[in-house]
Amino acid sequence: MTDFYKKIIENNKKWVENKLAISPDYFKNLAEGQNPPLLWIGCSDSRVPANEIIGAEPGEVFVHRNIANMVVHSDMNMLSVLDYAVNALKVKHVIVCGHYGCGGVKAAMGNTSIGIIDNWIRHIKDTYRFHQHELDAIEDEKERFNKFVEINVKEQVMDLAKTSIVQNAWKNGQELSLHGWVYGLNDGYVTDLGVNFSCDTDLDDVYQLKF
Ligand code: CO
Repeated sequence: MTDFYKKIIENNKKWVENKLAISPDYFKNLAEGQNPPLLWIGCSDSRVPANEIIGAEPGEVFVHRNIANMVVHSDMNMLSVLDYAVNALKVKHVIVCGHYGCGGVKAAMGNTSIGIIDNWIRHIKDTYRFHQHELDAIEDEKERFNKFVEINVKEQVMDLAKTSIVQNAWKNGQELSLHGWVYGLNDGYVTDLGVNFSCDTDLDDVYQLKF
């Protein structure tokens, strides 16, 4: 076994000991059930760990991650997570969190074939196409990349708002807010991108939203 592999098993033991030192019933309580107030849809990138950057403990955030934090309406994985979070766990918030420097978004800006992932990146390329006019007008490549990351998050929040799961929750008056964030790898801070939707939001405005 590699040193790394041994180390992570060791780390787990230490983690359990630390938790038990603070509260002997820590795992017993967690095993009773979960009641997280939040669903996190983020990028698979190893540098954007959902719980850590928002200071959440186990039990506080339900998580779905994929490359470039996409909400693809035919993705059974995402839909299952969303359905369970909204209808069973009754989360009050869903956050789509993208991040600057996202490799998936970057790849979608180019035409290099990488492999299987090309098929996933198609969805991100669609986002680019929807906003091509605005994005192509930005000459500086870094600036364009950053803007694309932000636009991609906003687009995913809108797609989330259009899912039957969220639409039905709102129709039933369920308390559920959607938010779009972008995380800075350079400084660790998240920025709220101002796409905060709830059952009070006029959906016609959402559909016609330009950014
Ligand atoms: Co990423």
